[in-house]
Amino acid sequence: MQFKRIANDPGSRARAGELTTDHGTIETPIFMPVGTAGTVKGVHQRELTDDINPDIILGNTYHLYLRPKTDILEKAGGLHKFMNWDRNILTDSGGYQVYSLSNNRKIKEEGVKFKSHIDGSYHVFTPENVMDIQRTIGADIIMAFDECTPYPCDYHYAKRSMYMTHRWLDRCIKRFNDTPSKYGYEQTLFPIVQGSTYKDLRKQSAEYIANAGAFGNAIGGLSVGEPAEEMYAMTEVVCEILPEEKPRYLMGVGTPINILENIALGVDMFDCVMPTRNARNGMLFTAHGTINIKNKKWEDDFSPIDEMGITYVDTYYSKAYLRHLFAANEYLGKQIATIHNLGFYLWLVREARKHILAGDFAEWKNTMVKQMDKRL
Ligand code: GUN
Repeated sequence: MQFKRIANDPGSRARAGELTTDHGTIETPIFMPVGTAGTVKGVHQRELTDDINPDIILGNTYHLYLRPKTDILEKAGGLHKFMNWDRNILTDSGGYQVYSLSNNRKIKEEGVKFKSHIDGSYHVFTPENVMDIQRTIGADIIMAFDECTPYPCDYHYAKRSMYMTHRWLDRCIKRFNDTPSKYGYEQTLFPIVQGSTYKDLRKQSAEYIANAGAFGNAIGGLSVGEPAEEMYAMTEVVCEILPEEKPRYLMGVGTPINILENIALGVDMFDCVMPTRNARNGMLFTAHGTINIKNKKWEDDFSPIDEMGITYVDTYYSKAYLRHLFAANEYLGKQIATIHNLGFYLWLVREARKHILAGDFAEWKNTMVKQMDKRL
């Protein structure tokens, strides 16, 4: 694996790079579409590769472990083969999904006992078995098992939890190094910075994570309900400490504006359910603001979904038609909106990259942030 930094923006801390694994090169900054259960919901593989065209997608250990289960994934030869996706995959460790289960889990030093959302059965995730599961899923980039703290979070809880996440990291690294990859290509493990919204904890955690000497580093515990300004303040503190020459991944972020602001602070990789989940609720992101396509005002607007025409659906279908599909609860509506939103998110990070290479990212970002902060 290799990470090459190609350019730094003179007006911010934004960088453009190339991250290369055995499944190809990822141009950064990148947005990774979320494919929780081995599918980017509602999107055919051809549309994903030809129209949206990301270099990497994300899967979730928690969901894949419960269904189809690791024995099936192993028989398939790993998730790439199972879903017929030959580009990069990153899997999240389950730290966040288990956090989302709130009342249906118990966290201890050994690991987390949780109740399946599918059939109510009980399971345990430990740093060790989460490494084993991610070896079997076979993603190119796998994540350490961590505790994602809620917002707001009591200082003492955040501190104790951060120390536990660090001890879990040591266990993850040991297990990861003791087990080979299963399918003949290399996997790499990213550790995760925690520390809630406390600068001193974030600094301490970033130092610990940086010292682990991993190939890339992640920032977790953000976008959990804190104001955007607090998120940016934490990213800033952490990016000052995480090594320049390694990729930085901000987990679960965010809106198009959040993404641009965090690129400006030195983040290279993002994932979020927002473009896909919001699409299924009729919310479209565009360069000029957000659209609620269910709104009556689009009923007889026969103009293209998005004049920019980033993906073919944007100019192939009209707003009125898409609104009709949502009103009639037709599957196709959700599919069109998903392709549009993912196409837009990928366009946004590619455009960011072009402006970093041109050296005018900071000015472009400020214009875009103003422009996108509207409801159409
Ligand atoms: N996704 C979003 N935030 C987090 C986090 O803090 N930890 C993990 N594992 N995944 C996340």
